[in-house]
Amino acid sequence: MNQNEIKVFCPATVANISCGFDVLGVALDSVGDEMIIRKIPEKGIQITKLTGQDLPKETLNNVAGVAGNAFLLAANYDGGFEIEINKKIKPGSGIGSSAASSAGAVWAMNYLLGNPFSKTELVKFAMEGERLASDVAHADNVAPALFGGFTLVRSYSPLDVITIPAPPELYVTIIHPQIEIKTSDSRKILKTTISLETGIKQWGNVGGLVAGLFKEDYELIGRSLEDHIVEPIRSILIPGFDEVKKVALQAGALGSGISGSGPSIFAFSQGHNTALNVADSMKLVYDKIGIAYEIHVSKINMDGVRPV
Ligand code: HSE
Repeated sequence: MNQNEIKVFCPATVANISCGFDVLGVALDSVGDEMIIRKIPEKGIQITKLTGQDLPKETLNNVAGVAGNAFLLAANYDGGFEIEINKKIKPGSGIGSSAASSAGAVWAMNYLLGNPFSKTELVKFAMEGERLASDVAHADNVAPALFGGFTLVRSYSPLDVITIPAPPELYVTIIHPQIEIKTSDSRKILKTTISLETGIKQWGNVGGLVAGLFKEDYELIGRSLEDHIVEPIRSILIPGFDEVKKVALQAGALGSGISGSGPSIFAFSQGHNTALNVADSMKLVYDKIGIAYEIHVSKINMDGVRPV
């Protein structure tokens, strides 16, 4: 292949999806970053341009640089890559900002070298970016960013990513109150053990959600969006969380929960109109409290990272 440069769209993602802490995720269609990746003869990764957010450009301090280095270490390639990032997803928003950059970098590098690696191998490289961002190399944002649609990380060791179909009428509403929650901080407050009773409730919902997605059973999807482990602890960090969730359900959402490690809150709806009504109801809560927000309504992105 002679192509030396590619511009890609890198989708935002919702990780956990209530019941699936660190294992479930889904890619969004209308929210994401753009990156340009270029082959260069010099070894290594250079981040030459970074617009949109105030983030470090040094390779070892930037998630795209670190993920790119992991890719280069495994690739049979003598040169390197230059990266330009137009960052639209705010860091600390809970919709996979670091994952978008990590996944976009490794997807584009793989493409420019003629796709020597599988998507699961790319997930492993991109996870190194997540390790830098959140201290833990979790895959529930980078997997959907790379595969598209819904993904389940069935196992981390060995890494086993399962793709799950998305029902055609499923829409996501995301509201991002403009506060920053660092994933590393919101992981520190979690308990490291759960009771058997809690486990039973949680894996019942994970199975129910996956079954609902396969069966296109919107009601089942909705009643499986319950989190007995993480949401009760993390929701304390998110102003207005209970109210936002309540009004989303009243407006017709199938279910609602924390997006990733927050503070964004997501809701699933059947149909675009319902998702828009849900957005309106969520906005009112933050208008009343007086917290600025961004809001997105998106269908599911079935491609993951893609050329633009
Ligand atoms: N599963 C991760 C967490 C996702 O909740 O900490 C972070 O976006």
